[in-house]
Amino acid sequence: MNIAVIGTGYVGLVSGTCFSEMGNNVTCIDIDQAKIEKLHKGIIPIFEPGLEKMVLKNIENRTLSFDTSINNIIDNAEIIFIAVGTPMGEDGSADLQFVLSVAKEIGQKMNRSLIIVNKSTVPVGTADKVKNTIIDELNKRGVSIKFDVVSNPEFLKEGDAINDFMKPDRVIVGAESQHAFVKMKQLYNPFFRSRERLITMDVRSAEMTKYAANAMLATKISFMNEIANICERVGADVENVRIGIGSDSRIGYSFIYPGCGYGGSCFPKDVKALKKIAEEHDYKAQLIASVEDVNNRQKYVIAEKIVKRFGENLEGKTFGVWGLSFKPGTDDMREAPSLYVINELVKRGAKVKAYDPKAIDEAKTFYLKNNNSIEYFERKYDVLKNSDALVLLTEWKEFRSPDFEEIKKQLNQPILFDGRNQYIAYDLEQQGIEYYRIGKN
Ligand code: UDX
Repeated sequence: MNIAVIGTGYVGLVSGTCFSEMGNNVTCIDIDQAKIEKLHKGIIPIFEPGLEKMVLKNIENRTLSFDTSINNIIDNAEIIFIAVGTPMGEDGSADLQFVLSVAKEIGQKMNRSLIIVNKSTVPVGTADKVKNTIIDELNKRGVSIKFDVVSNPEFLKEGDAINDFMKPDRVIVGAESQHAFVKMKQLYNPFFRSRERLITMDVRSAEMTKYAANAMLATKISFMNEIANICERVGADVENVRIGIGSDSRIGYSFIYPGCGYGGSCFPKDVKALKKIAEEHDYKAQLIASVEDVNNRQKYVIAEKIVKRFGENLEGKTFGVWGLSFKPGTDDMREAPSLYVINELVKRGAKVKAYDPKAIDEAKTFYLKNNNSIEYFERKYDVLKNSDALVLLTEWKEFRSPDFEEIKKQLNQPILFDGRNQYIAYDLEQQGIEYYRIGKN
C-alpha cells in the first residue's frame, strides 16, 4: 500500500517506519527541512531503541522515504496519516492548529478518493472538524471527491515503541464506512500473529478510547501515590500494600508502582485535556481533576523529604541526582519529576550534580539550560563526591544494584532518597545508609 505519514515526531516516525517494515511504501513528511535532511541520511531526532536500525534498513530497501511536502505523494497515497503534534494550549485543551492546517492542505490538493487517518491524540469531535475543513476546501475548488476520516489512536510507550507497534495489544479503528474498515484491516493484518486484534467502532468512541486508556493508567498511578502518602502517615508500608492488592486479579500488578509522579508527553497532557473536554460539555470531571492534582503534588514529595531532613534553607548543600528523563529507556524530559525536584532544591540554595544515561543533552540544551547550579557528570558515581545525599529519580536498570560501599565512601554522609522504591530489598539501614523512600517512614 502507498502510505504517507505527516509529522515525524514520536508517533509519526515510529508508525511510518513500522508500516514500511511490513512492505508498504511509506513517505514520512515534515515541514521541518533540517529534520527531513537528517532523516534522509538515517539520522533520527529522538532516542528510541531499534528505531534507527529500522529506518536505515527501510531507506535502503526503498520502502521508506522522506519529504517536506505532500505535493509528491498526494496523487499516489491511498492512506494519509496525520501524526502532527497537538501541544497543550494555555487553557489545558489540545491545540489543533497543526492538525487542521494539514487537513486544509489535503483539501486543497487531493484529486482522488483517500482515507485520512488521525493518529495524533485529539479531542472527541476532531475527526468531524478535519472532515469539514477538507469539505470546505473541496467546495472552494468546486470539486466533489469521496474521502473517509478515520480515528486510529496510538498506544505506544516511549522506550518500547517499536515493540508496541509491531506487536500491538489492540488496534482501535473508528470509521464511518465499510470501505475504510476494510482498508485499515488490510493495513494492520500483518501485525496480528496469533489472533485478530483490530477493534472497530464509531469515530467518537475511538477518539475517546485513547483518553480513557491514558486517564485510567494515570489514575492507577495517582491512586497508588495517594495510598503511599497515607501509608507514611499511618505507619504502613506501601510496598506490602502493593503486593497485597496486586494479587487480586481484578486489580493486577501493572501500573501500581508508587513513585515521584508520572511525567512524559502523554499522561499529563491527556489528563488535562480530558478534564477540559468534559468541562466544555458542561461536566465537571472530579476524579480526573484529582488524578492531576495528586500527581502535581507527588512531584514534590522527594523534595519535601529532603527539606524535612536538611531544613528549609539548603544553601551550602549539594545533592547527587541519578536519573533525569521521565522514565527509563528514553531521553525525553517532558514533565519529568526530576525538573520539579531539581528546581525546588536549587530554589532553596542547593547545588545539584546530575547523571542520566541518555538525557543529559536534553537537560543541558532545553529543560535546565539556565540553571547554573547544576553540574553534569558522565559516570554515575562521580555525582557522589562531596554531595550530602544521593537522590534517585528515574529507575534506569543501571541504578538497580549499585555498589553501596562506593556510595557510602563517596558521599559526605550516607543518605539516600529513593523516588522509585528501587532499593527496598537491600536493607540499607542495616548497611549504615540513612534511607528515605516513597510510602514508608
Ligand atoms: C504512556 C502510555 O503507556 C501509552 O500507552 C500512551 O500511548 C502514551 O503514554 P509513556 O508516556 O511512554 O506511555 O510512558 P509509560 O511507560 O506509560 O509511563 C508513564 C509515566 O508513569 C512514567 O513517568 C512512569 O515513571 C510512571 N509510572 C508508570 C509510575 O509512576 N508508576 C507505574 O506503576 C507505572
